[in-house]
Formats: sequence, C-alpha cells, structure tokens
Amino acid sequence: MQLTIDTRAILADLDAIAACSSSPPPGVTRVVYSEADQRARAYLRARCVEAGLALREDGLGNLFARWQGAEPGAPAVASGSHIDAIPDAGRYDGTVGVVGALEAIRALRRAGFQPRRPIELLLFTSEEPTRFGVGCLGSRALAGVLGPANLRALRDREGASLDELRAAAGFGAPLEQVRLSIGHYAAFVELHIEQGPILENEGVPIGVVRAIAAPAALRVRIRGVGGHAGAVLMLGRRDALLAGAEVALAVERAALGSGSADTVATTGVFQVEPGAVNAIPSGATLEIDVRDVAPEPRDRAIAAIRDAVVEICGRRHVQADVELINADPPATCDTGVVGAIMAACSHTGLHHQVMVSRAYHDSLFMARICPTGMIFIPCRGGVSHRPDEYAAPDAIERGVQVLAETLARLSAW
Ligand code: HGY
Ligand code: MN
Ligand code: MN
Repeated sequence: MQLTIDTRAILADLDAIAACSSSPPPGVTRVVYSEADQRARAYLRARCVEAGLALREDGLGNLFARWQGAEPGAPAVASGSHIDAIPDAGRYDGTVGVVGALEAIRALRRAGFQPRRPIELLLFTSEEPTRFGVGCLGSRALAGVLGPANLRALRDREGASLDELRAAAGFGAPLEQVRLSIGHYAAFVELHIEQGPILENEGVPIGVVRAIAAPAALRVRIRGVGGHAGAVLMLGRRDALLAGAEVALAVERAALGSGSADTVATTGVFQVEPGAVNAIPSGATLEIDVRDVAPEPRDRAIAAIRDAVVEICGRRHVQADVELINADPPATCDTGVVGAIMAACSHTGLHHQVMVSRAYHDSLFMARICPTGMIFIPCRGGVSHRPDEYAAPDAIERGVQVLAETLARLSAW
C-alpha cells in the first residue's frame, strides 16, 4: 500500500486550530469550554465530516469520529489526543495527535485501504488541568476513573460547575453514558510531541513509548491573618504568602530528596488574597504537580510535602489544608501495540527508540480500558508548554506516516 501524507493539509489544520486562541500569537491559550475551544472544535468537526467520518460527542464533549470498517460491529481501533492548551502555550501539544490521526485516516482512505475493524478518531475533552485542576478529565471519565458524581462536584476558579459549563458549551448528554467498557476498543494509539529533548539529541525520528509517568497533583490552601501593610508591625504577623513561599521551597526539596532522579515537583499556581500591595496576605493557594516514572518515590515526595506544610504552618501560626487532587499509577504500553508501531517504523525505514513518557497523556487512562501505545516525534529543544514549542513539518509527516501504518496493522487484528 502506497501511503502519501498530505503535510500541507496537516499544517493548514494546525494553523487553523492555533488561530483559535484566547491569547495573541505566538502563544496559544485554549481552555476547555472557552470560546476558543468551541471554535477549534467546530473546525475539527467540519474536517471530520469532510473526511466522511460519522461523528458522536458525549456529555463532556469527547468527540468520536468513526470510519466504519468491513465489520462495523467489531471493536474499533482508535487514535487521537487533545486540543485544549494551557495559557500561553504552544500549538503542537495534543493537536499534532488529533490532526495527525485525521490525516492518517484520510491517507488510508486515499490509498484505498479497507479496514476490517472500524477506525475512530478521538478528541479528548480537557486533557490539561487548567480549568478544573485535574488533568485528563475526558479520558479519566471514559475509563471510569472519574464517575458522574465526581464530575458534578468539579468547579472552576470562578465557581462555575462542570455541569453549567458543559451545558453552555452544548454538551447535554448524560454523564452516566460517558464511561466506555473494557473491550470497547481493540487498541488505542496516540501521536504526540515528546515534550523532552531525547529524540532530538539522539537524532532519532520516532519514539516508541513503553510507559507513561505517574502524575499527582495537590492543592494547599493557607489561611493567615490579613491587615494593613503599614499599621501592623512585623512581629506577630501571620502572613499566608510567606508560609506559602516556604512551602514552595519545601516542594523543591521534597523532589530533590525523594531518592529518585526522576522525581519532579512544581508549584505551578500560587494565588494570594486579597492581592493588594498594601495588605498583608490573608490567604494563599498553591497547586503542586508531583511526578515520577515510579509511584513510590513520588509518594515519598508527597509525604514530605505534607510534613513540611504541618511544620511551616505550625511555626507561622497559620491554618492550612492539603487536598490530594489525584495520584495516578503509571501506565505500561501494550506489547502488541508497541510491536505494531515498531513494525510500522521498520516498514517505513525509520529509526526508532523505545522510551518512557515523563509527561502524562490521555493514553495514561486509555491504557486502563484497551491495549494502548504512543508514538513520539521530536520537538525543538524538547520545549513544550511554551509559545516557542515547535515540531518540524518533516517530523510531523514521519509521525503521521508511522501512525497510519500502525492503524492499518491494528485494524486488521
Ligand atoms: O502536564 C502534562 O504532562 C501534559 O502535557 N498535560
Ligand atoms: Mn500539555
Ligand atoms: Mn499533551
């Protein structure tokens, strides 16, 4: 089968989706259920219909675009990723996996390929934790890790509930129907930029992921005593920000002291109330991301952070509560899917390297309900979650070529 990848079409799709942003270029901001997210979804729906795919959307806005195979009732082979983007981010994280899967399907159809199993493009809602504090919201729900009650309890920083926001975005189907059963899919493959420097440094065009790191997130709320910045003397202050600052440094120490060089911890959100230059901070909220490729050192770091919060806030006479938002086990990719990706690389004559993903992805949860694998392509300098994130057209083309070949193999499983 002679597959030709239309790279110009991929780049046009990436440009069109990047233009759906609530911040000016070169960065991209596309928060779930925002106006920018809606525009990007509408664009993608139109491209899927153009490609002859049958669309379905669930109550969270997960999008399923299906190419019926010779056996429509057989469990499908799926591929996809996310299009939401954290504030002032890049245009390739997630979107390469969505538009890449669409082009892989288009290329297979152009080549006259007849899949036995259906092939389905998946767009996952809210892979980024930006709005609701938890990552992989859509795929977590598909995998049954977050049930309807947990979903309904979610609110964004403005206090709007998930239910209100999803309904306003036009997704009214019952949350009880989101979960997919094990066996619903025969296999799932996600194409993604590496978001690290290994492939570029090694000069290898394709990464074949064998495992996905174990992410966790904490929220620490600190309540001190506010007051007039001029009238209240230093002794006896109960400054919530300063306690939070010590906690943020303790987060760094906890990662460095976990006993594993793979433990990373980041205080990515640090909010202060009331946020006036002449008022002593009465409140501080920290959102902390802790990961490792193994859960044990990650959990040691979390325990050290909890201990530090107790010590610091006790010494500073401020109140604190620690909320564990999520602490997920790592995922192991399916050897059969990994084998299919490697066979596709050999067939296309592309060097590849087996590796671990330090970033998390929707594949982390798809792996709970079906055999799952990931294809990585290099990104410049390993940079991601920044406006200068970049993946070269030929790198994207190679990734889509391997994805198309892999889907062809898996759809014949
Ligand atoms: O944070 C992550 O690992 C992913 O890029 N959302
Ligand atoms: Mn991301
Ligand atoms: Mn991503």
